Amino acid sequence: MLLGRAAEQAEIDGVLADAAAGISRSLVIRGEAGIGKSALVEYAAAAPGVRVVRGGGVESEAELAFGALHLLLYPYLDRLEGLPGPQSAALRAAFGQIEGPEANRFLVGAATLTLLAELAAETPTLVLIDDAQWLDRSSSDALLFAARRFHADPIAVIFAVRETVPPFMTPGLETLRLDGLPSAAATALLDERAPGLTVPGRTRVLTESAGNPLALIELGTARRDAERAGHADPVHEVGPLPVARRVQESFRTQIAGLPAGTRTLLLVAAAD
Ligand SMILES: Nc1ncnc2c1ncn2[C@@H]1O[C@H](COP(=O)(O)OP(=O)(O)OP(=O)(O)O)[C@@H](O)[C@H]1O
Ligand SMILES: [Mg+2]
Repeated sequence: MLLGRAAEQAEIDGVLADAAAGISRSLVIRGEAGIGKSALVEYAAAAPGVRVVRGGGVESEAELAFGALHLLLYPYLDRLEGLPGPQSAALRAAFGQIEGPEANRFLVGAATLTLLAELAAETPTLVLIDDAQWLDRSSSDALLFAARRFHADPIAVIFAVRETVPPFMTPGLETLRLDGLPSAAATALLDERAPGLTVPGRTRVLTESAGNPLALIELGTARRDAERAGHADPVHEVGPLPVARRVQESFRTQIAGLPAGTRTLLLVAAAD
């Protein structure tokens, strides 16, 4: 259940309603780590009456040319036959199905556009791309090329992008910037996930989280566990750190309490 995102949900509803009416829309949801981008992606994915084509960036595959596009379009590769010959050949070559010269970026973008438009012509379609900041460059070029060119197709494209340095650029696309939850929603989320905090503890978590849902949940539960164990202050006095760093600090504290073997296993999993 999403708290405090009624306006954002309404915006997504509007994008989907326009798409269903044949007015293509693209939307980029931007915000810091833990602010609730994926939660809104899930909300969109649950919309009734649309075909959802889902993909996303994977940090460990960010260097694999066309990896993300392949993941997205894999279920529909049997449709390549219906594409104009040069587009179909370009996409097949990009995916290593046929020998070909180095991928022609224009043709791959055009093929992505045609294929998704064909799907949308059958049934209104929502393309959902989470963690777009980790798309490999070839895939993001093709997807942004397509997203900018849909016109009167019953299709919506939603990208979720974590703010990174350097930023993942999405020129020409509508942006929905996520800020912290409004204070009533932040309080409700904290009280739901970490009930029973002391008054100073609750106030401090609300202040430090700045409405970031992940921070509310993680700092709130860490604080509750510490209060139960009789420690007043589980998260070190770290001063005005950005919220994401604070959450990392909280994870670090939790990880430090694990047995050595478990920590090694976590390290191996993270490195993988
Ligand atoms: N509006 C909300 N109401 C209640 N819980 C929420 C809300 N938004 C996010 N959450 C919860 O907060 C946590 C972090 O949210 P989410 O994973 O969507 O963040 P994110 O922006 O996708 O982060 P990242 O950049 O790491 O991918 C999740 O457990 C999610 O369920
Ligand atoms: Mg996410």
